[in-house]
Amino acid sequence: MTNVLKTPASHAVKPQSPLVRFYRSPIGKKLISGATGLALAGFVLVHMAGNLLLFLGHDAYNAYAEHLARWGVLLYAVEGLLVGIALLHIGVGMSVFVGRLRARPEGYAEYQSVGENSYQSLSSRTMIITGSILAVFLGLHLWTFKFGPYYSTELDGHAARDLARLVVEVFHKLPYVLGYSAVLLGLGFHLRHGVWSAVQSLGALHAGIRPLAYGVSALLAGAIALGFVALPWAIYGGLIV
Ligand code: HEM
Repeated sequence: MTNVLKTPASHAVKPQSPLVRFYRSPIGKKLISGATGLALAGFVLVHMAGNLLLFLGHDAYNAYAEHLARWGVLLYAVEGLLVGIALLHIGVGMSVFVGRLRARPEGYAEYQSVGENSYQSLSSRTMIITGSILAVFLGLHLWTFKFGPYYSTELDGHAARDLARLVVEVFHKLPYVLGYSAVLLGLGFHLRHGVWSAVQSLGALHAGIRPLAYGVSALLAGAIALGFVALPWAIYGGLIV
């Protein structure tokens, strides 16, 4: 009599859709992480430039915010997309991190380059830490500004939200200025490795231009972090009132 091995019903292998298979594959994770990361970096760059408008005065800043608010349903759609992209980015990042922990619980004692130049750096080794800090920060940030106190002002003869007043009020407090500076340093580190690694993952990096791309990524990360951090300090220092 032959023994037939039966799989218990609870362990039956369920067929996976191609999308789930893609999400779970290492190459799928790299591509999703790269594409969502670049989209988020694009948002952060535009957001930083928008914030700099406060250097031109309260009206310029409030007019920009009001202009965005006028997008109405389209703005909700963009915000929904942004949330989806951020969740996907975080989900993939966490799953890669947990997968690596399982494969190598103790980590390497030292990071050494073998053969060609290693692009391991403090930034690349702290992606999970800086990413987690940014995720927590985002919740607090939206609470402070987007869902914060609603001040009104007059703009071209009609009532509008006075976001400039709120931003100035918040950054008159030193703990906020210091807290934002620390988080923005983390953002700079995250972007420094993230942008370069994303472009590489998407297959756009020929080995020859890798050092250049690495430099451009560092420059962009520095410019974004500095562009953001200039505002809290300019307000705290009395340059913007
Ligand atoms: C000095 C630094 C920053 C300032 C002054 C600032 C200011 C603001 C303000 C005033 C809003 C509310 C806009 C509105 O309700 O119309 C906002 C929204 C937002 N901020 Fe920031 N921000 C800063 C840094 C950051 C950073 C570093 C990130 C991401 C890592 C970020 C992500 C967001 C997001 C996702 C929103 C919601 C956008 C939306 O719903 O349309 N911000 N920020």
